[in-house]
Amino acid sequence: MYEENFTSERLTQAEYSEDDTGIELSLRPRSLAEYIGQDKAKSNLKVYIDAARARGEMLDHVLLYGPPGLGKTTLSTIVANEMGVNIRVTSGPAIERPGDLVSLLSNLQENDVLFIDEIHRMSRTVEEVLYPAMEDFEIDIIIGKGPSARSLRMQLPKFTLIGATTRAGQLSTPLRDRFGVLLKLEMYTPEELCIIVKRSAQILDLPIDEEGAREIASRSRGTPRIANRILKRVRDFAQVKGDGRIDRKIADYALNALEIDQLGLDNTDRRMLSIMIKQFDGGPVGLETLAATLGEESITIEDVYEPYLMQIGFLHRTPRGRCATPAAYRHLGLEARGNGGEQVSMLDN
Ligand code: ADE
Repeated sequence: MYEENFTSERLTQAEYSEDDTGIELSLRPRSLAEYIGQDKAKSNLKVYIDAARARGEMLDHVLLYGPPGLGKTTLSTIVANEMGVNIRVTSGPAIERPGDLVSLLSNLQENDVLFIDEIHRMSRTVEEVLYPAMEDFEIDIIIGKGPSARSLRMQLPKFTLIGATTRAGQLSTPLRDRFGVLLKLEMYTPEELCIIVKRSAQILDLPIDEEGAREIASRSRGTPRIANRILKRVRDFAQVKGDGRIDRKIADYALNALEIDQLGLDNTDRRMLSIMIKQFDGGPVGLETLAATLGEESITIEDVYEPYLMQIGFLHRTPRGRCATPAAYRHLGLEARGNGGEQVSMLDN
């Protein structure tokens, strides 16, 4: 049922790739106690879960939003585990017709979790079936065709919908309003990622020292999925070029071979910044123009490249377009010039 699109081979992309599926599953935490980071979301969620369990009710519908790769699916599986219920996993684009949703909903058991990834990509006709299902746990199904068609109201078991999206702003208001719990997932700090890398290494039975873990963590752009993927590649280098142990030196060697720089930027990130600086004088440059020049979809730029570049202060969005900051110029070894030709001091570091 779960639909994924395998597009680029980018190692630092936060979306799943084919290579991830097996290992990802084994590395995923299964309880809130095992889940590292997202402390705010986690502590609130724990209260809601404990309260719902004590009442013997289903958990209210939850919307998880934030950049890709931060553990929305993992967190949903944990919610189902903690509630002691089943989870059905699907995604907005996989639910093509209202009938697909009806079949998913009618197969749920009392208090189960239905997880819909990329919920902002669900079609309007499907969305309309979801409203009464979320609100009243009922759906109207049409039986027959033409003049003899009849509408039949069907009662559903109580369930929890967990919707995940990279763009909460694209959700229609009626849909957003039907979620009782809204949780924003934040990028992970290098310290949190370091703990995750060490945990993953332990599960994979890989010897790794503190500095090796820190090197991988600081170059994983705030994203556990990327950290785990890099860990696997570093393991290969450690095995072939070293003695199988991961320390700072072999991690650095591997990351350099993968062309992932000290801040976790890859060739695509650097190319985007370089285009902004060299062809558009640092910006402002419109999203569509940037997308066309880079040969990428604008949605990919917005969801995949920009969040981290903004997080590290290399890019900002203005009403007139995207601008590269002096820090981005410095990182690329270029002389910083302000937007619109205004000079920016090189001494501001
Ligand atoms: N693996 C991936 N994400 C994780 C997280 N948040 N905590 C622990 N292990 C993880």
